[in-house]
Amino acid sequence: MRARISPLRDPLRAAGERVPGDKSISHRALLFAALAEGESRIAGLAAGNDVRSTARCLAQLGVPLLRGDGTPWQPQPRSLEFPEDEEPTFVPPERPLGSASLPLRDADMGHDDAIVLGQGLSGLREPPGVLDCGNSGTTLRLLTGILAGAGLEATLSGDASLSGRPMERVAAPLRQLGAVVETSSGRPPLTVRRGHPLRAGAIASEVASAQVKSAVLLAGLFAEGETRFTEPARSRDHSERMLRLMGAEVLQRGNTVAVRGRAALRGFAFDVPGDLSSAAFLLAAALVGPEGSSVALEHVGVNPTRTGFLDALSMFVVHLKLELGSETGPEPVARLTASAQKLRGAQLDGELVLRAIDEVPILAVLGALAEGETVIRGAGELRVKESDRLAQMAQGLRAMGARVKELPDGLRISGAGGRGGRLEGGAQVDAAHDHRIALAFSVAALAAQKPCTISGAEWADVSFPGFYRLLRRLGAEVEISS
Ligand code: S3P
Repeated sequence: MRARISPLRDPLRAAGERVPGDKSISHRALLFAALAEGESRIAGLAAGNDVRSTARCLAQLGVPLLRGDGTPWQPQPRSLEFPEDEEPTFVPPERPLGSASLPLRDADMGHDDAIVLGQGLSGLREPPGVLDCGNSGTTLRLLTGILAGAGLEATLSGDASLSGRPMERVAAPLRQLGAVVETSSGRPPLTVRRGHPLRAGAIASEVASAQVKSAVLLAGLFAEGETRFTEPARSRDHSERMLRLMGAEVLQRGNTVAVRGRAALRGFAFDVPGDLSSAAFLLAAALVGPEGSSVALEHVGVNPTRTGFLDALSMFVVHLKLELGSETGPEPVARLTASAQKLRGAQLDGELVLRAIDEVPILAVLGALAEGETVIRGAGELRVKESDRLAQMAQGLRAMGARVKELPDGLRISGAGGRGGRLEGGAQVDAAHDHRIALAFSVAALAAQKPCTISGAEWADVSFPGFYRLLRRLGAEVEISS
């Protein structure tokens, strides 16, 4: 599908909008709830396909869960949005024989709420087929940790993008703990073999990755004693916060986190905050929109291990309003308001980039529209995300008229700020099977001089279903075609 996006003519204005639930937290809420003793209630799950992949895989492991939209799982529909009048089809996966029956629907459940009947650490079953993780690296890597810990045999696969992504970074530490994990030359499909009980241990990881850390911590829950994970810098800590909420013993010392097994986890009630990684696209659209543009977003997660985007904005000398909400759960939330203003080029690297790892594509767009040079370094991990995001951003922004140099671990961008603050546009760019690339180019198109076409725009559904509909509602001109 293609989205043809015209430059914004009128100010973009939104108040009181909510963005989809945080994807990282949603995956964890479902996965961790599956391991709890008893029921969990989760409100505001991320609506996109990635979290549906997690729900579907859990169903295949015999976990009873129900989503408020009546569709606990789905087989990767092409899109929830294109064409807009076509309902996706939902096909339940095969569940293991003897699985407990599904929870009953609660009359007041919202569309994206879920009930999960936890099966405890010993209650999962081997799946009747391959676990298809779709486009979702978090699903594949975290489930690998759970399967290794539970000693269950299963094969995990993914789509073309996920099948090219590195998996030894999770397989190797799990082998150190005693698991037998086979990858296909380091990539999916990946198989965990049954019957290899784990020993607690200390893992030192070469990459700072919350997915690898979470896989190890999840595996550690099943092993007697303390399992430690040390990473070069501290990655997002949603797993640690959720495990504490569930009663697990989790200790943090510098860049080392330890969990004590075997843990008994309590079920929980949890309201998932909005995803800052999705909010970033709307905030950026307001920043580079026509004068008078302003976007206020409610209930956005502002966990300090994730707020590199907000810190980057202050380096672009942007003023953003942040009103902290009352602390009701383990994750801080805030109302965020951004309005159109001039941006100054910035140097973004190191620890900030790790805390903004999924926002680098949109930060590159901001750099391309700022005044002066923006340099992003320490972002080599972007090459192994859903696409090589450094290459895709360099290529697409150049096609739109920006001056960008690709560096081994980042981008050097000379901003259009000095040249009228707009990119020329008039280009066709490809989403490369990557939601954040589709979303970032869409925002760039809003601030171009001529309309741009994004091919593969349906990939936006992975984290932000309804994005184009929302843009249109806010006054943007977006035409969808096949
Ligand atoms: C995620 C961690 C990050 C991030 C991804 C989600 C998570 O990946 O880029 O979108 O939910 O743990 P890495 O762990 O590979 O850095």
